[in-house]
Amino acid sequence: MPSLFKRFFARLPMARSSRAYEFALERIALPENARVLEIGAGQGYGAAYLSRSLPDAQVFSVDVTTECLKPERLEPGPRPPIFIQASATDLPLAGGCMDAVFVVMTFHCLPQPQRVVQEAARVLKPGGFFILADVNGRHWMKRPFEIVEHLFISPLTHAYTVEELAGLIDRAGLTDFRVARRPGKGRGFMMWAFARK
Ligand SMILES: C[S@@+](CC[C@H](N)C(=O)[O-])C[C@H]1O[C@@H](n2cnc3c(N)ncnc32)[C@H](O)[C@@H]1O
Repeated sequence: MPSLFKRFFARLPMARSSRAYEFALERIALPENARVLEIGAGQGYGAAYLSRSLPDAQVFSVDVTTECLKPERLEPGPRPPIFIQASATDLPLAGGCMDAVFVVMTFHCLPQPQRVVQEAARVLKPGGFFILADVNGRHWMKRPFEIVEHLFISPLTHAYTVEELAGLIDRAGLTDFRVARRPGKGRGFMMWAFARK
């Protein structure tokens, strides 16, 4: 890919999102034929990326609205994602059925954060992975990010700190909490939290 085009492509929201999922996938080992849940489908690019990267997995993606979904633009893997309209606070899924739950650039705008983490923990199989990628609540851009979000996107937006996430995850009964940041990238604006059931 010519470098000018590469630079342009890297600025597109879908490319940024893909890298967030890629960074997470590099840090977990999923079983064959895994069942993976994404909370916050948005346009659907994350779910499509997961289904391409995990060709034998079945990806489910939940969103409270289907308004943003762009099914005609997606390039899914051989097992296309299943999109479900529901709230993360009340997942219409059986307990213990997922090998991983991803929440990418979504947690900051969800209501009832403790309930959402509890729902994610409920649907995970024992040993399953909880992966949350979002804005770092200690980054200097936290306040500008929240102000713009409050004005144009959601009054609920809150960028969580590592300590806040650790508390929510611990109270939901998940273990092995750890945080990762991409070295040298964006001075730590994004952070990834990992935990297991
Ligand atoms: C910024 S998008 C994230 C999209 C995708 N994960 C990505 O990184 O490309 C956040 C999504 O969360 C969804 N959302 C907001 N409240 C929700 C809720 N209670 N339950 C499920 N999804 C919700 C919004 O509709 C929106 O599509």
